[in-house]
Amino acid sequence: MEALIKKYALGTSSLLPILPDGEPEGWLADTNREVLKRLIRPEFRLVVDGGSWKGCSAYFMCKCHPSCKVVCIDSWKGSPEHQSRSDLPELFEQFKANMSIFSYRILAIRDDWRKGIWELIENDVSPDLIYIDWQHEYDDVRSQLELIVPAFPDAVICGDDFNKPGVNRAVREYADRFQLALKDNVTIWWFEKHNL
Ligand SMILES: C[S@@+](CC[C@H](N)C(=O)[O-])C[C@H]1O[C@@H](n2cnc3c(N)ncnc32)[C@H](O)[C@@H]1O
Repeated sequence: MEALIKKYALGTSSLLPILPDGEPEGWLADTNREVLKRLIRPEFRLVVDGGSWKGCSAYFMCKCHPSCKVVCIDSWKGSPEHQSRSDLPELFEQFKANMSIFSYRILAIRDDWRKGIWELIENDVSPDLIYIDWQHEYDDVRSQLELIVPAFPDAVICGDDFNKPGVNRAVREYADRFQLALKDNVTIWWFEKHNL
């Protein structure tokens, strides 16, 4: 873990933080906030933010726990639906600036999600929770679940966009196939571990 902390330390940014309403701009519904607050338990040491954008979800996770580390895995190239946005070229710099207040708790793996997850597997990292919020198509989410769930049997696995058809179908099918206790609150889904 020490090697990973060194390799993926956040580093400094050439930009200033932009925190409208006191946090980075992003997509974190109130339903996600309410559930994440419950899922992130006091004994947790490390959680994964799968898809970080400008830091909204990672920032919220840091606020939910006083010390837990947050591994952010993102290409910082945007998802297919973001490709015409003007803020893409500076996305990673803005993420670093926005997260600077929590920099000592953040690891930033700037790569495709699959490579980032393999980096954790190969380094025997055991996250307590993984929040999945990369691409939202059925095939993407299905592949994400097929790699992540068996690789981290002790982690709470959850994700955004349960209200999107591709995510909803992939998550439901996976839960049925492996008889996992699927819970949701409109936008967020999770596989229940602790009777929350
Ligand atoms: C919806 S945004 C994440 C929003 C963030 N969780 C928040 O609360 O604001 C999706 C993110 O996934 C990243 N992403 C999309 N496809 C990816 C891939 N194949 N590998 C790594 N990151 C990817 C994008 O760069 C983008 O930052």
